[in-house]
Amino acid sequence: MSNVSSPRVINIGLAGLGNVGAGVFKNLEKNRALISQRIGAELRITRVAVRDLARPRDIEVPNELLTTDWRELVNDPAIPVIVELIGGTTTAYEMVAAALRAKKIVVTGNKALLAERGKELFALAEEFGVPIYFEAAVAGGIPIIQVLQEGLVGNHIRSIHGIINGTCNYILTRMSQAGLSYTDALGEAQEKGYAEADPTLDVSGWDAAHKAIILASLSYGFWIPQDKVHVEGVDRVSITDFKFASRLGYTIKLLSVIRADENGLVEVRTQPTLVPLSHVLAGQDPTSSSVISDLCEAAAVLMHGARHSGFVPHGLYGKSKPVDDTVSHYYLRLTVDDVPGVLAQVATVLGERGIGISSMIQPEDLEDTSGETSLVLMIHDARLGDMKSALAAICQLKCVRGEPSWMRVETLQG
Ligand SMILES: NC(=O)c1ccc[n+]([C@@H]2O[C@H](COP(=O)([O-])OP(=O)(O)OC[C@H]3O[C@@H](n4cnc5c(N)ncnc54)[C@H](OP(=O)(O)O)[C@@H]3O)[C@@H](O)[C@H]2O)c1
Repeated sequence: MSNVSSPRVINIGLAGLGNVGAGVFKNLEKNRALISQRIGAELRITRVAVRDLARPRDIEVPNELLTTDWRELVNDPAIPVIVELIGGTTTAYEMVAAALRAKKIVVTGNKALLAERGKELFALAEEFGVPIYFEAAVAGGIPIIQVLQEGLVGNHIRSIHGIINGTCNYILTRMSQAGLSYTDALGEAQEKGYAEADPTLDVSGWDAAHKAIILASLSYGFWIPQDKVHVEGVDRVSITDFKFASRLGYTIKLLSVIRADENGLVEVRTQPTLVPLSHVLAGQDPTSSSVISDLCEAAAVLMHGARHSGFVPHGLYGKSKPVDDTVSHYYLRLTVDDVPGVLAQVATVLGERGIGISSMIQPEDLEDTSGETSLVLMIHDARLGDMKSALAAICQLKCVRGEPSWMRVETLQG
């Protein structure tokens, strides 16, 4: 590794001075003395790459530190640690790969980059003998990555369930508690700064899915391919579904589920899910604190010797479960003609595919007078593939109007 001879001052190249980068810069300045005392080295940012030098910033950064060329950081022999906080998967990939080839430790908060190209990057890290730290990529402020890498290394992880996107959680909570429509809840989240102007990555479910890929890969020792992950967004959740869910004792969350079955097949999915009301699973500074804790790790490596690359593949698992084979309970809401015999027709379609109904509601106070009504079914364990086939057939029934609304149900009991 370069520049390890005098590690009392550790020079850092910071790429990106946006929400997170500015927080890292500010908090490193603010806590310089404390960090120095704790780790026995001074973390000093000596170069900062941005896209636009003229952009007004909330923090003061000496002009001589700034550059628009990230290569100046990577090519500087006096910098042994590069922090990537520019986001995206193209320039960020180029930069991280170049930094690893130059044997520099990388710290990143970029979940999209790791989810898409983690396999290649960790292979490079292994080849060049330098680690990538990425605590900030998932659940800023909570050391979940380190826990999976080290704390639980001797454990077999059966499953992980979690709500790992704050924007979607805010939107769904406001829909549930204030009765807002999806569009109004999203608008409010944007107004309050909880959602980006372009919220696509969040509301599509992909931000949470990127994090789930990272957690699953660490848990099961092989890098989960993105195309094996099932992802659904929150935009199709309606207030009506919240009303029915609540009657049934559930609420709706964007839940990420990671689970290995007894044959070692791993499923990773993120989707709006009914979870029991009694089991509601519980920005800048938390994320920057994760980056800074990674920088302290980097300092320890520079001073005391190398550790693992950040992700070590092992052969215990290795296969993703085909998504159509994943099994769960389902909630299904149909808009149907208000005539006798409808339930029997729907039950027949489900029964032909071996799918059983565990309960049914058709509340009168939620009906209207248009001759149609809602039929809500709770469904026993069903394969996704069978559910899809049943839904296609249900849509063909003359008594069924419009698109069915359906979601998985997780009891969260192991
Ligand atoms: N925001 C969060 O709460 C959060 C939480 C966890 C993880 N993350 C991750 O952290 C990363 C950064 O997020 P952010 O919210 O801080 O992003 P951001 O506010 O959009 O900031 C991006 C920064 O990167 C700079 N930049 C962009 N392209 C560049 C290039 N080609 N060369 C040099 N600099 C470039 C921008 O420069 P200018 O300032 O000149 O435009 C800006 O300072 C992302 O990967 C994100 O997923 C964010």
